[in-house]
Amino acid sequence: MSMNIRNFSAVSFLVLFVFVGAGTLHAQYKEPDKANMVDIKKAEQGPRTIDVSHYPKKIQAIYNDYFTQECIQCHPLSLPINSEYALPAEWEGYIKRMMYKSGSNISTGDAKRITEFLIYDSSVRKKAIMDEKLRKIADFLIYDSSVRKKALLNDKLSKEAPEVRMEQEAKIKEVHDKYDH
Ligand code: HEC
Repeated sequence: MSMNIRNFSAVSFLVLFVFVGAGTLHAQYKEPDKANMVDIKKAEQGPRTIDVSHYPKKIQAIYNDYFTQECIQCHPLSLPINSEYALPAEWEGYIKRMMYKSGSNISTGDAKRITEFLIYDSSVRKKAIMDEKLRKIADFLIYDSSVRKKALLNDKLSKEAPEVRMEQEAKIKEVHDKYDH
């Protein structure tokens, strides 16, 4: 009888552990926002390694000794490898988020190294994504200046050579045509 109770406890403990454990991971997966789940699932199914053979030796070392060791503790490496993050600020923010997750023992030094690796890798392997994001930031700044800093902009343009002014005005118009409606 006591044997049965012990078995029952062991089984229920196991069930509880799996249930709560899975629930916790699931909850953490959903935490950022629900639409993001699709991207996370897609990224997860992509390649799990990066060919770093043409990267500088020090970058290869961070890949082998830190990235592939520490970022695999909670999810496959395919998540960071295929994610849409590319800009330095995105990686800096995201690695901090990973550092503060309970159970991760990523030191500040390791986080810095891994961040540098991911910035380097993004600038090579995700160059198109990076350029596209930088272009959007530039679009935003051009749009914003043409509204919020209109007087300053006009003053600066008036001092430019006519061809430079026309080129700049064409770019501003292009941004407005793209986003105004
Ligand atoms: C302690 C567990 C843990 C460790 C260690 C960890 N992660 Fe994560 N990671 C998660 C969880 C949980 C998620 C699910 C989404 C979330 O919470 O942001 C995730 C999601 C991600 C995503 C996808 C998020 C998105 O919004 O697209 C990336 C990219 C990522 N991790 C990168 C890394 C990198 C790089 C490292 C190594 C520095 C790392 N992770 C280490 C727990 C961890």
